[in-house]
Order: sequence, then C-alpha cells, then structure tokens
Amino acid sequence: MASSAVDPQTVLRLAAAGYPPIDRSAGRVAIVGGFVRDVALGRDPKELDLVVEGDATELARSFGGELTVHDAFGTATARGEHWRVDVAMARSEGYPAPGALPEVRPATIEADLERRDFTVNAIAVTLQGEVIPAQHALEDLDAGLLRVFHERSFSDDPTRLLRMARYAERLSFEVEAGTERLAAAASFASLSGGRLGGELRLVLAEPDPLAVLARVEGKLPLALNPSLVESALALASPGSDRAMLTLGALASDAAWLETLELTASERDVALACMSASVPVDSRPSSLWRAWRRTPLEAVAVAGARGDRDAARRWIDELRNVRLEIGGNDLIAAGIPEGPELGVRLERTLLAKLDGELDGGREAELRYAIEAS
Ligand code: CTP
Repeated sequence: MASSAVDPQTVLRLAAAGYPPIDRSAGRVAIVGGFVRDVALGRDPKELDLVVEGDATELARSFGGELTVHDAFGTATARGEHWRVDVAMARSEGYPAPGALPEVRPATIEADLERRDFTVNAIAVTLQGEVIPAQHALEDLDAGLLRVFHERSFSDDPTRLLRMARYAERLSFEVEAGTERLAAAASFASLSGGRLGGELRLVLAEPDPLAVLARVEGKLPLALNPSLVESALALASPGSDRAMLTLGALASDAAWLETLELTASERDVALACMSASVPVDSRPSSLWRAWRRTPLEAVAVAGARGDRDAARRWIDELRNVRLEIGGNDLIAAGIPEGPELGVRLERTLLAKLDGELDGGREAELRYAIEAS
C-alpha cells in the first residue's frame, strides 16, 4: 500500500478551498476524522470534521449556512449549498450503559482523539499545521489497518461494527487482529432500532452494501443473497429506492424492520420487498390484482425471486395500461352512478389487460355495458 503520510498543508489547503474560512477566535481548533484520513489517502474528502476546545455551536455558526445543534453532545453542523461542516466540542466520553448515547465532558483535542472509533479516524491537524495523531494512528493509516482504542469500544457503541465494515470495504483496509476478535464477540443487542436504522442507511449508500453486510453476517436478521439483490436491482426502474429494496429483499424479520425508525415510505418499500412474490397465476389480470398497489421495488424483488418476465412485463408495460373510457361514458350510456360503475370499469380493465378486448373505445364501452 502506498505511504499515506499526513501532510498538514494539503489538509489545510483543501479545507480552505472547499469551505468558508474557519474562525480562529473560537478556541483551539483542529480538522479531524474522515477529512484528514481521506486527504492522507489521496481520496476526495466528504464533509469537514472539526474539533474545538470551546463552543462547537459558536464555531459552526461562524460558517454561515444552515445550523443544526445537538446540545446534549456538544456538536453542531453548518450546511451550505455545496458544503457541510461537522463541529464537535473536544470531549471525553463516558457510556452510562452499553449501546447508550455517551455522556460528554469538555477535554483537550489530544484527549478527544482517544474516545473515537478507530485510530485512523483519530488524527487531528490544527489550524497552525500541527499534526496530532492518536497512538498507532499514523502507522495504522500507512498500513491500512482498522484498530479500536480499547476493549469496550464495540460494546460502548455497536454502531462501530458497521462503521468498521464500511471502512474495511470502502478503503480496502484490514482489521487488526485484536479488533477483529472484539468485533466477532460483539453484538447489536444494546443498540436502539433508530440508531441501527440510521447506520444501516449509511451502509446501504455504500458502493457495495452486500460486501459490507457480509462482514457482520449472523449479527442481524438478514439472509445475505447478493444475486437476488443484483437481479432485483436490474429489474427495478432507475428512480427506485435501492437502499430499501436491498434491505427488504434481505430481511427475514418484519418486526425487526419495524423497529428501525424508517420513514413511512421507506418502511412500506422495505416490508413489501420482504414479502414480495409473483402470483401463481401470472395472467396480466392476476398481476394487476396482486401488484396494483405494490411498490415497484417489491415487484422487482418478486421477479428476482420467481418469474422475471412477469415482473418485467408489469414494470415496463402492464402497470401503465388504462381504459380509454371513464365513468362519465357509462353514465352517458345509462348506467346509474354508484359503486357499480367502478366494478364495471375494473372488469373492463382486467379484460383489456388479458387481451380479451379487440378494438379501442367502442369495444371497451360495449364490454363495460354488458359486464354485470
Ligand atoms: N466518530 C466516532 N464514533 C462514531 C462516529 C464518529 O469516533 N460512532 C468520530 C470518528 O473520528 C469519525 C468522526 O467522528 O472520523 C466523524 O464521523 P463521521 O462523519 O460519521 O465519519 P467519517 O470519518 O467522516 O467517515 P465517512 O467517510 O463515512 O463520512
């Protein structure tokens, strides 16, 4: 692996190029976390992570942009149109219970590095260009190794299991042997569903989520099946929710999905994908009955599980079939208003779908009037 020394001037230059100036009056400030790591690895850094020995909210506010404050954690985020800065007050953390959110106390930048997830995420570059690495951080970055700081790291914060899996895949890093052992023994049991759901969203946004999930196989109620997901994604339309399609296709426990605090539409897609199947009778009218209210993501998963052609036909063609006539045409033909109209129109649509109507409007009208 190429050497990945941290060049503070490059870190500072890239921060200056992509973000508003950093306010030096806020207290001792350093760039830290993913930004430093990614610059050192020659990768495009995403958001700017700052740590300040002082008031995180004040520093975040000085950037302008939209401000979000998390008082309890001493963190704040400023967002501009093309940038995002995450600011954390330098702190040490105590975990009142495994998996619980941490209690934080102000501390120095040096001490703050020790409470982080992995050594490679614990290198600070101060605005004066000083590099402050946590123990092992520089050698681990150079060797491409993920290492936690202490034995309780995963039990304090089980999200680190998924963070580790994401970094290992995305950065092609190895996991240090002791860290691997701790991870193997750790579980998500103490983590709230909402936090797990948030972390899964990040996993599902990675280029290869299945490879990430394979690294925690057995710890979540997911039956990993890469070819199922690949085949469903190939069937799904471009605008589909790939993340929820993947989650639902793999999930084996609906009650667990319900705990993840997904949005209502995410949840609907994931649950539908979990239970998706192709009806035994694959005539177009049966597909309509089965799928007319089903998210397309779930139709794609059903196709990947069974009859691909039926799913393809529904997605590309059948779901868009409409009648040329409407209720007004039936009223004009003397059919009384009421639920009856809807029943006749539905029967006519089903007949049209199954190819029983030859001709357009006229044939539809005749069928609808004769249908009883
Ligand atoms: N961090 C941590 N433990 C967590 C979450 C975050 O120690 N559970 C620390 C790490 O030092 C991390 C930094 O906060 O580098 C910023 O967190 P985040 O933005 O989530 O991660 P990045 O390192 O920026 O990684 P990514 O590239 O995935 O955004």
